[in-house]
Amino acid sequence: MNELTENIHSTPRIKEFSCGKDMLDDYLHKQVSQDIKRKLSACFVLNDKETDLLKGYYTLANNSIAQELIPNEFQKKLPNSYKSIPTTLLGRLAIDHRFQNQGVGKLLLVDALKRSYDISKSIGSFAIIVDPLDEDAERFYDKFGFIKLPDSGKMFLPMNTIKTLFE
Ligand SMILES: CC(C)(COP(=O)(O)OP(=O)(O)OC[C@H]1O[C@@H](n2cnc3c(N)ncnc32)[C@H](O)[C@@H]1OP(=O)(O)O)[C@@H](O)C(=O)NCCC(=O)NCCS
Repeated sequence: MNELTENIHSTPRIKEFSCGKDMLDDYLHKQVSQDIKRKLSACFVLNDKETDLLKGYYTLANNSIAQELIPNEFQKKLPNSYKSIPTTLLGRLAIDHRFQNQGVGKLLLVDALKRSYDISKSIGSFAIIVDPLDEDAERFYDKFGFIKLPDSGKMFLPMNTIKTLFE
């Protein structure tokens, strides 16, 4: 976990990053720096110490979802007065193709869950939300317990479930 760095600018070979999904590559090559400057997103990266290649990255941002979108079994524990439920958005998670299938995606996902859980002790967040790009990404998140939100392509993992992983 302590291999992770927050500062994307310390990543020399960022332009070479390629995960196989243009949208996620382009975001890193063209947009992430602006998003960080504007405080729209925080980006965490893992560099390969030997080659300086970027192994993978993920982004986090504050987010909210309408209470009515949350499945009944989770919604019934929420006060009605909360029309909008505070959440954390794991906006993007991508691993360079040279480092896929080596456990890096899992490492970064667990890192994102831990980081989000730690922050939720200071700023309330009911769940982590992801918005998988395609069915392949959906299967990845499903494997780690993310639940599909009805009527949206998004998935979520309650913070109280995440808590059980780290306490
Ligand atoms: C999806 C992605 C993040 C997975 O990262 P990775 O480093 O290759 O995955 P890992 O090696 O850490 O795999 C961890 C576990 O998830 C499983 N897994 C990996 N990709 C999977 C997928 N698409 N569907 C189902 N399971 C998957 C692995 O088999 C492994 O299982 P195990 O722990 O039982 O051995 C990566 O392939 C990627 O960046 N893809 C392109 C971008 C993308 O689709 N991002 C998703 C968010 S939008």
